[in-house]
Amino acid sequence: MTKRNGVPEKITIDFVRAWVEPRVSAKRFKHIKGVAKVARQIAERHNCDIFFAELSAWLHDACKEMKEKELVEAACHFQIPFGEIEAKHGHLLHGPVAAAVAKEELGITNIDLLAAIAEHTLGNAPMCPLSETLFLADCLEEGRARSYTAPIWAALKIDEERINVPHAIVVASDLGLVHLIESGRPIHPRTVEVRNFYMQTLKEATCP
Ligand SMILES: [Fe+2]
Ligand SMILES: [Fe+2]
Repeated sequence: MTKRNGVPEKITIDFVRAWVEPRVSAKRFKHIKGVAKVARQIAERHNCDIFFAELSAWLHDACKEMKEKELVEAACHFQIPFGEIEAKHGHLLHGPVAAAVAKEELGITNIDLLAAIAEHTLGNAPMCPLSETLFLADCLEEGRARSYTAPIWAALKIDEERINVPHAIVVASDLGLVHLIESGRPIHPRTVEVRNFYMQTLKEATCP
C-alpha cells in the first residue's frame, strides 16, 4: 500500500485548504486549521500517517454549514444509512455527508480517511487509528473551552512521548454525555457504544 493509497495526486494540503475555505465561515475555517494542528500532534504519537491525519482534519467540517434539511437530503442522495435521531438532528450527518462529498468531488477512496471524516462527530466502536486521531483532534482544538479540553489533554498525555488514546476518548465521551444531559438534548446510542467500548479497551490495557 502506497502512502497516498486512495488519494489522487492532485490532492495536497494546499489544495484541500483552498477547496474548503469558500465552503465555511472564517470562524469555522479557524477551527478546521486548529484541528489540523492537533491532528498532526496526535498522529506523530499514534502510529498514524501525518499527511492523512492533516487531510482528514481539513475535510472533516466541509459540510458543517449546510442546513439540517440539506444534510438529510444529501444523506438520502448518497444513500447514507441514518436513524431517527439523525433525521431530527440533521447536523449529525455533516461528517458522513462530507466523506461522501470528498469521495465524489475529490476522488478520495481511502477507506480509513473516509471513515475518519464520517465518524468524527459520534465516533465508532471501534475506530481505526486515523479516525481516533481526528475524533480527539476535533475535541482538542484550541478554540474550545479549556474546561472541556484540559481533562481530555490530561487523560491523553502520559508523558512527552506516549499518549493514552482510549483514556482520552472515554473522558471526551463522558464530557459529551454530561453536556447532552445538562442541555436536555437526545443522546445518540453510538456515543454510549463508543464510551463503553473504549472503557473496556482501557481496562484491558491496564489489567492484562
Ligand atoms: Fe464536525
Ligand atoms: Fe470540527
